Amino acid sequence: AASMRNELNRMVGLVSDETERAKFAQEMDSFYALFTRYLAQKAKGQKLNWDEVHSPGPEQIRLYKDLPQVADTGKAPILEKLAVLKLNGGLGTTMGCVGPKSVIEVREGMTFLDLTVRQIEYLNSTHNVDVPLILMNSFNTDEDTDRVIKKYQSHKLQLLTFNQSRFPRVSKDSLLPCPKTPNGKLADWYPPGHGDLFESLANSGTLDKLLAQGKEYLFVSNVDNLGATVDLNILQHVHDSGAEFVMEVTDKTKADIKGGTLIDYEGAVHLLEVAQVPSAHLDDFKSVKKFRIFNTNNLWINLKAIKRVVDESMLNLEIIVNQKTTDSGEKVIQLETAVGAAIKYFKGAHGVNVPRSRFLPVKSTSDLFLITSDLYHLNHGELQINPKRLFGTVPLVKLGDHFKKVAHFQSRFQSPPHILELDHLTVTGDVTFGHDVILQGTVIIVANYGQRIDIPSGAILNDKVVSGNLRI
Ligand code: UTP
Repeated sequence: AASMRNELNRMVGLVSDETERAKFAQEMDSFYALFTRYLAQKAKGQKLNWDEVHSPGPEQIRLYKDLPQVADTGKAPILEKLAVLKLNGGLGTTMGCVGPKSVIEVREGMTFLDLTVRQIEYLNSTHNVDVPLILMNSFNTDEDTDRVIKKYQSHKLQLLTFNQSRFPRVSKDSLLPCPKTPNGKLADWYPPGHGDLFESLANSGTLDKLLAQGKEYLFVSNVDNLGATVDLNILQHVHDSGAEFVMEVTDKTKADIKGGTLIDYEGAVHLLEVAQVPSAHLDDFKSVKKFRIFNTNNLWINLKAIKRVVDESMLNLEIIVNQKTTDSGEKVIQLETAVGAAIKYFKGAHGVNVPRSRFLPVKSTSDLFLITSDLYHLNHGELQINPKRLFGTVPLVKLGDHFKKVAHFQSRFQSPPHILELDHLTVTGDVTFGHDVILQGTVIIVANYGQRIDIPSGAILNDKVVSGNLRI
């Protein structure tokens, strides 16, 4: 720990501008606190007591359908107290894009950011309010984001941005920081997960600004979750219940085993992430029986309570150790935290079990396939399921590696297929789709190595397996 502290101090000393230095020193202090907690935790070993982990009780997870419905009269004074924040620190690398994930075009030429702006502007104009939109950027996303949001300068919308922290990656062997100077290679630094929200919101001055405007509630969500719209029933419930923290959770399916879940731990609501689960209990964690719900990361948090928790330096969020290998083959670790883990510090905190439609993340081009299809239509930036879809579920779609990057994905469809009656689609290999292809039931298309399948325009594939060279 002492050599880490020395290295950090040395880097702080290299910053000549006084204001910059103070800011950097503050960041390195936060990092150092996280690092020493990590060392202590490593020394103590696993500290979660599994005997204390219980399924949450009915008071800890309310059902969305039991919340009182707010009549939509066009007036909702409670919105005056709301600010909306999107977590925008992440890149689009998994989908083969450079730059922030939020600037990927998702539908009708609009990006995640465009759709979010639309949603908030529509909310503001229909209710005659001025709900601000806040983006939490990282050093990876702020420049591109600033450039993109310039086009909203002339809009009436109050659009605020601030940056989360930039922490040094740590060499796994030496436990020393990878960067040698404060402004060296970008790859030596990382944004420490969305758990950084609280401190960064406060340090940037944004928290005080919102409180000064009379805002009381912050609705936080992942920028790629297109289902995370402002819901008046939940907002009213947050207000009426006095809860300082409400987490939207939804029923887990076998595909959601990765997500964190809410538990009753020593009588309080805690978030349990897979990283904290002792290996002997992993199957338990993944089962849909004991832990029926998972965290959507749609969170409603009381701003004054954030202020209290930050001022009292209470935040000791569970550390997620993200192990990476750099391009040069060095093993490094990133210490990260998750925003939902803070639930344990807030009074009256609980989960609300919401319909799956409020969790519509875009993690892969298979998700993008659904979002761009006729399964949904856009209504003022909000994606709504097409009423012509007769089943309550969305199709299961698995697109192979040839579709992994957004650019490749786009070039393989002349227009989005019609999938209102699709249940299951698997595509592997070199496959392309013409205009207005209709997919129904279960469709499996497999082009083996060296083969290519072009589905012609207007083709109707109903419960079909297509393999080898094109045969329909
Ligand atoms: P995550 O990266 O935590 O989500 O980002 P995930 O669900 O595991 O996603 P994949 O599988 O990596 O794609 C969730 C949200 O938090 C933001 C991201 O931009 C995204 O909107 N985020 C993540 C930050 O703002 N800062 C971070 O340091 C990490």
